[in-house]
Amino acid sequence: MLIIHGGTPLEGEVLVRGAKNLVSKAMVAALLGTSPSVLRSVPAIRDVEVVTGLLRVHGVDVELDGDTLYMDPTSVESAGVEEINVHAGTSRIPILLCGPLLHRLGRAFIPDLGGCNIGGRPIDFHLDALRKFGAVVEKSADGTHLSAPNGLHGIRYELEYPSVGATEQVLLTAVMAKGTTELRNAAIEPEIIDLICILQKMGAIIKVHTNRVIEIVGVDELKGYSHRALPDRIEAASWASAALATQGSVFVRGAQQADMMTFLNVFRSIGGAYEVDDDPVEGGIRFWHPGTPLKPVALETDVHPGLMTDWQQPIVVALTQADGLSIMHETVYENRFGYTSELRRMGANIELYSDCLGGTPCRWGRRNFLHSAVIAGPSKLHAADLQIPDLRAGFSHLIAAMAAEGTSRVYGVDRYITRGYENFEAKLLGLGAKIERPAPASAQLASRD
Ligand code: EPZ
Repeated sequence: MLIIHGGTPLEGEVLVRGAKNLVSKAMVAALLGTSPSVLRSVPAIRDVEVVTGLLRVHGVDVELDGDTLYMDPTSVESAGVEEINVHAGTSRIPILLCGPLLHRLGRAFIPDLGGCNIGGRPIDFHLDALRKFGAVVEKSADGTHLSAPNGLHGIRYELEYPSVGATEQVLLTAVMAKGTTELRNAAIEPEIIDLICILQKMGAIIKVHTNRVIEIVGVDELKGYSHRALPDRIEAASWASAALATQGSVFVRGAQQADMMTFLNVFRSIGGAYEVDDDPVEGGIRFWHPGTPLKPVALETDVHPGLMTDWQQPIVVALTQADGLSIMHETVYENRFGYTSELRRMGANIELYSDCLGGTPCRWGRRNFLHSAVIAGPSKLHAADLQIPDLRAGFSHLIAAMAAEGTSRVYGVDRYITRGYENFEAKLLGLGAKIERPAPASAQLASRD
């Protein structure tokens, strides 16, 4: 639990390291190499610890030195169901180990997946593609067992929806499958392009064509890589939104304009100000509230190059301070507005609808999912006791508590925020936030004596 005394503008600088949603996949890619890999700008977050554990049980030697990760996969070996299952329910990354483990060992076992509870999050695209590559998939009570008795062969495959994970699944499997793979309707998020750069460094042949088509020519062997992870654009946008909601000014060192163009357009449309410093080492983006009223906007989330679904929650908090009616239509996940009930308890005026409001009809329309939000602002937020439901919503609760008047207690920070935000308490303190941890029970007892 974190105690937050709200009402103080956040002012100062934070450093954003490599993107959680690239780093974890880059670690999986290291499994494909016959020699060691080096990954730089690795953030100290729990998802990295989880993948480290998964690699280690498969015989990969993983060492972290500062923010550089060394991974030696030369002695990859099968792991027992029990040691893999220690990681069940902790993240969605285990599903991406299928292709690399099938190539290296001929079989794989995948535990039940975890990750944020923001929708059904099926893995049907993953398993369907793996079967077409030639994998035999058997579900059991303890997880999913896979084998490839006849090896893996290139496929022509079209995704029903440009899923990030399923695109990565196909990439990580196709690079060493026999023959050529053509993936249509692929996701092309910057983290996927960075993963493609890594695989190319390892020796893969991957062509990104127009219209979301990716062609992969399978090769017999891949070597290790050396790579600097692209910066975390979700974390950068979270700090930007925190600056806006608290009427502050934050320089996000490491943030890159090119990957954040859609967010920057939204930030400016709302009335926020930013300035890009493109120095390759010390550069970043400064975000601030210019002191004039924020403007309402109609937005919808989408796959890249649209507005990221992970930017939605911090933007909604900032929109509670805009002068008028805003709309947010969530088209990626069916259930990503649960966190707004806590914001309503803080005084925000947010209504949810199952219609596709203010934009293009999406998959969730007419299916009774509350996936559009109307935000009427500006609202004076007041302190509350908040329960964090997931990673990104959790950070938006922190932002709301910092923007609110009074003292809030936010529960669940260690379970969720540490999964994806490095050192967030030190960063908040550095920006002048008035936060504290409750004294441990033993200290409270001692002070009563
Ligand atoms: C990745 O999840 C990210 N996670 C998510 O970030 C992010 O929100 C998401 O991509 C979209 O950008 C990681 O990279 C670890 P998807 P992923 O497959 O790959 C449906 C965060 O907080 N779908 O692109 O799991 C799915 O239900 C996290 O950092 C199927 O129907 O997302 C969803 O509606 C949260 N069948 C849509 O596709 C499938 O087999 C997009 O999901 C796979 C997906």
